[in-house]
Amino acid sequence: MSKVIFLTGHREAASPASAETAVPRAGGPLLDTRHRPLHDLRISVTDRCNFRCTYCMPREVFDGSYKFMPHAALLSFEEITRIARVGIGLGVRKIRLTGGEPLLRKNLETLIEMLAQLRTPEGLPVDITLTTNGTLLAKKAQSLKDAGLTRVTVSLDALDDVMFERMSDSQVSVKTILRGIDEAARVGLAPVKVNMVVRKGLNDDQLIPMARHFRHSGHILRFIEFMDVGTTNGWNMKEVLTGAEILKKIGSEFPLEPVHAGYRGEVAGRWRYLDQAGEIGVITSVSQPFCSDCTRARLSPEGKLFLCLFAANGHDLRAIVRSDADDEQLAACMAGIWARRDDRYSELRGRATTPQKKIEMSYIGG
Ligand code: GTP
Ligand code: 5AD
Ligand code: SF4
Ligand code: SF4
Repeated sequence: MSKVIFLTGHREAASPASAETAVPRAGGPLLDTRHRPLHDLRISVTDRCNFRCTYCMPREVFDGSYKFMPHAALLSFEEITRIARVGIGLGVRKIRLTGGEPLLRKNLETLIEMLAQLRTPEGLPVDITLTTNGTLLAKKAQSLKDAGLTRVTVSLDALDDVMFERMSDSQVSVKTILRGIDEAARVGLAPVKVNMVVRKGLNDDQLIPMARHFRHSGHILRFIEFMDVGTTNGWNMKEVLTGAEILKKIGSEFPLEPVHAGYRGEVAGRWRYLDQAGEIGVITSVSQPFCSDCTRARLSPEGKLFLCLFAANGHDLRAIVRSDADDEQLAACMAGIWARRDDRYSELRGRATTPQKKIEMSYIGG
């Protein structure tokens, strides 16, 4: 095998080690140091986006001079599929494609077709989902479904065009996104989940209109607390409307009751309208962190494996897949990285005394 540096440490620049140093799994599931299995692989396929949401890619930073990743640096579809296949051997059962905006990656349907052919050791396919801003969805929903995509999640922060343009810093109309959502549901990428990031004092007047619009639609609207991801969005606790406050507002208009989590590690707390009008979710990463059940690994567009949305450093899998290491060695390396994981940023939020370096959401996906 050629000389490759395997990065197995946690967050800070990791210490070199060989694949053979990976912690062995004595037959049981692969667990990290906090006994969390690896279940979700979130794959970011591009760091580019056609929106400039103020909480994610503020235009002052992501302007004409911003250096996006060159195409040659990106993992190929074959490389992504190989990492996913090895990940499935280690426990991955859900794959989510993210970005940036994943539908900007050329021929994404080809990647989906390749991922859809993968099987678990029991011979079953895995869930393949995608998070998109919805601009290209009406056009692509059918081909995504045909390629083997299971579901989609669409970001939409307001129903009012002026507020939507302000949040996304784009000229796209709400109607375009709504058309994408409906088309996705029509072709069977359902249930469609709709993510609304809530910034207190900005788009919180959209809570009730959004709830009203998506009641009885079959789509699941989820409210996300504004998070301190990355270092460019000027995050401030004063702009966080907590999940409890959100539920109080919605519930006072449309009474709600809780629904049990669908599976261990589900990000959104689930609620349903008492009048059977459907389900909503709240994602409370700030007010009620869910790190103790976090089973997600994130692969960046150029092949770094990150163990937390708020991490500063990733582990370079591209160097390994571009060496002559075989799948067993890649698996040992990935297992070692996961086994040493102890990330729980949201539980520790606010305790750091010095500002931390963090990756950007547009690079690693939601
Ligand atoms: P499903 O429930 O299967 O649809 O998936 P999901 O909720 O994991 O995926 P989705 O991308 O829709 O996640 C919703 C949002 O929650 C993301 O866009 C992020 O903003 C946030 N989120 C997801 N995973 C994490 C996580 O591990 N940590 C934190 N802090 N936020 C997360
Ligand atoms: N806080 C909360 N959610 C965010 N997203 C992007 N940036 C933030 C942030 N700072 C959401 C997007 C999308 C998903 C990819 O992550 O709205 O739904
Ligand atoms: Fe693009 Fe999504 Fe970030 Fe908005 S939140 S800028 S749509 S990647
Ligand atoms: Fe997982 Fe990190 Fe989010 Fe906690 S903060 S839930 S460890 S991604």
